[in-house]
Amino acid sequence: MKSILGIGNALTDILAVLPDDTLLETYHLPKGSMQHVDMETGDMIWAALKPLGVKYVAGGSAANTIACTSIFGMPSSFIGKIGDDELGLLFKSDQEQYGVNTLLLKSEHSSGRSMVFVSGGNAERTFAVYLGAALDLVPEDLKPEYFTGHDYFHIEGYLVQNQALIRKAVELAHEAGCIISLDMASYNVVESNNAFLHDIVDRYVDIVFANETESRAFTKFNDPKLALEEISKHCKIVVVKVGKDGSWVKSGDEEHYIPAWPANTIDATGAGDTYAAGFIYAHSFGMPLKVCGKVGSIIAAKVVEVIGTKIDIPRWRDAKIEIRKLIADNGGVL
Ligand SMILES: Nc1ncnc2c1ncn2[C@@H]1O[C@H](COP(=O)(O)OP(=O)(O)OP(=O)(O)O)[C@@H](O)[C@H]1O
Ligand SMILES: [Mg+2]
Repeated sequence: MKSILGIGNALTDILAVLPDDTLLETYHLPKGSMQHVDMETGDMIWAALKPLGVKYVAGGSAANTIACTSIFGMPSSFIGKIGDDELGLLFKSDQEQYGVNTLLLKSEHSSGRSMVFVSGGNAERTFAVYLGAALDLVPEDLKPEYFTGHDYFHIEGYLVQNQALIRKAVELAHEAGCIISLDMASYNVVESNNAFLHDIVDRYVDIVFANETESRAFTKFNDPKLALEEISKHCKIVVVKVGKDGSWVKSGDEEHYIPAWPANTIDATGAGDTYAAGFIYAHSFGMPLKVCGKVGSIIAAKVVEVIGTKIDIPRWRDAKIEIRKLIADNGGVL
């Protein structure tokens, strides 16, 4: 079985269901937005949420992908930075529970967290993110031995706050002979770091995952298919995801449209992270491009059926049966 190493912001999601919009108004958080907050504000918000009853779940884009590849059965490791505190311990034990080999460095700052406010009848989500310890991950933290022996290396675009870190990470992964995948994370990440991301993709990245708005920000093409074509000139494999409308995958002259797998959607959070895990898992068995996209779509369709980013056991069981059959039918040896 091929192995994977991921790097990203080690964040714990703190979920709270709000009775009304008072807290959002108090902290000037427009409904549906994602804002970064400093430690002081972050602590105040957390304290205000506690009496409402909160749920803690390890999150972060690459961390979600790595938890998912681990559940698939790939040996999976994760590099991140946490604080010496309760949330840091929770993040670590959550990852370990999924079988992830944790390479979690410690910072003097408190652990990063994403406070998720669920409000209103349609369960709209508003995020206040305190990156904390996650921001303290620096290039000097990365050791070549973390990378040696891994077949895949996955990186999230949210790390662009530290371009030197990304550059060192992809250099080390390249030296270790890893297949490198990048999830572009968010259109504003792409917009504000366009030249940097182009350079990294040109030089190091083998597989690019972008959603529609990210592909638009990267290429300036509105049409996801044109964006797909443009990005494919710069890397071996590109995936452009268009939510419930499915995804496009392209490698050289080969191109496929993959419809979304049917799902009873209740919360789309984590669809992209999970898709990436399924795609890479299938790719690690040498599956054709189309099968990789299909496996990504099958597993992503499971996460949209649950609240949050963690697929429940019955859905995992169903997905694994479907996916293993698909891989075996295409000549993969499981
Ligand atoms: N409602 C849905 N029903 C079925 N599959 C879905 C649905 N929404 C998303 N998916 C699947 O998940 C994939 C990724 O979703 P999306 O395009 O939303 O990515 P993303 O924007 O990166 O997600 P995220 O918000 O998690 O970062 C889609 O290509 C599709 O296969
Ligand atoms: Mg995404």
